[in-house]
Amino acid sequence: MTGFDLTRLLAERGGERYALHSRHLNHQLPRMLHTLGFDKVYERAEGAYFYDADGRDYLDMLAGFGVMGLGRHHPVVRQALHDVLDAQLADLTRFDCPPLPGLLAEQLLRHAPHLDRVFFGNSGTEAVETALKFARYATGRPRVLYCTHAFHGLTTGSLSVNGEDGFRDGFAPLLPDTAVEMGDLAALERELRRGDVAAFVVEPVQGKGVTPAPPGFLGAAQELLHCHKALLIADEVQTGLGRTGDFFAYQHEEGVEPDLVCVAKALSGGYVPVGATLGKEWIFKKVYSSMDRVLVHSASFGANAQAMATGLAVLSVMADEGIVANARRTGDLLRSRLAALVDRYELLHEVRGRGLMIGIEFGRPKSLGLRSRWTMLQAARKGLFAQMVVVPLLQRHRILTQVSGDHLEVIKLIPPLIIGEREVDRFVQAFTAVMDDAHSGGGLLWDFGRTLVKQAVANR
Ligand SMILES: Cc1ncc(COP(=O)(O)O)c(C=O)c1O
Repeated sequence: MTGFDLTRLLAERGGERYALHSRHLNHQLPRMLHTLGFDKVYERAEGAYFYDADGRDYLDMLAGFGVMGLGRHHPVVRQALHDVLDAQLADLTRFDCPPLPGLLAEQLLRHAPHLDRVFFGNSGTEAVETALKFARYATGRPRVLYCTHAFHGLTTGSLSVNGEDGFRDGFAPLLPDTAVEMGDLAALERELRRGDVAAFVVEPVQGKGVTPAPPGFLGAAQELLHCHKALLIADEVQTGLGRTGDFFAYQHEEGVEPDLVCVAKALSGGYVPVGATLGKEWIFKKVYSSMDRVLVHSASFGANAQAMATGLAVLSVMADEGIVANARRTGDLLRSRLAALVDRYELLHEVRGRGLMIGIEFGRPKSLGLRSRWTMLQAARKGLFAQMVVVPLLQRHRILTQVSGDHLEVIKLIPPLIIGEREVDRFVQAFTAVMDDAHSGGGLLWDFGRTLVKQAVANR
């Protein structure tokens, strides 16, 4: 082959995808996908659906871990990307002030009127790193507080505020940090009294387990933090841009005005990685306190034209199509229809969340026959039952979901925010069929459970 021809390359070598991953990338991904029977070949995607080579549709209830807020290949976002490439802008000169970052900052700040400035990076973890650095510099204090089970990204700073040992183990030493339970104001105050805390970073609805902050917690935490001259950082990387039925999830509670807000994922339109840290004037003024410090925090690709153009297109589509209202309406519908099943299925314990961020929690059944099966799974590994549900949802019903974190019996639904009644019907019907199967006590589902148990035991 001479010259570069992407279409030809994919046609000739696309079939090697799993082998290439096994050989050159993280080899555990194809291994895991083979084990679960998730080793599909998706050829095309549009909106909330993927399609395989036979044209069969798969409903996406995962949205690429939340980046596909508008679904895949939204025509307006796609056009913006074409347009910005065709414009051949003089981007990233680094010694001029291009218009797009200013315009996107202006739009983002309209949704957080108490904030004044934006730093653009390239991912969620970078947005969090920025917030941590800014908070430490602005307060002159080293320690950061976070919640148990928190997830804020996996670079070293963000890892320091990760609430799961599985992610942290082996990477120490990290930043000085302390975890508090979500909702535990007394613990927060105890830590703040030590006088060395820069900030408390929190997801308004925790991604792992889909746990919303208890009512009143964010406001009370903010008051305590400000009393002790520490900052509130809202990590809206997953919850932001309408996911929970408010533009930002912290807005669910009146009076909450975080000092720094982290945004990423859906702002990308699913195309160009981007991160944004929104913050108060005084914090930015302190970090960038003199001309000498102009580059004290910066990123080579930060605020690039492609990311800014897609971000602007995403916000424009969100307004034009009433995306936040749809997330709230469709989320309420899906959650209430699922919650109605709790009384019908003893393995189903709770349905929670806000907007289109929904957690379905399973738990110990009452009847004896099911309990022995449940106990067998729990003895091997916590989280296997949720995995046992995720697998037939894809295999039999062509719906992609995920278990919400290791060792959790929770399935998380974070579909594109454009879904409607049709997708709700399809999910509820499929979920009901899988639950019927699980409660019948026999069949393929529990056979697969036994396979998972063997795997878990072999992996110990
Ligand atoms: C709440 C939250 N913060 C930060 C991140 C990290 O984002 P990224 O993967 O873009 O670094 C994630 C990713 O899942 C997230 O859910």
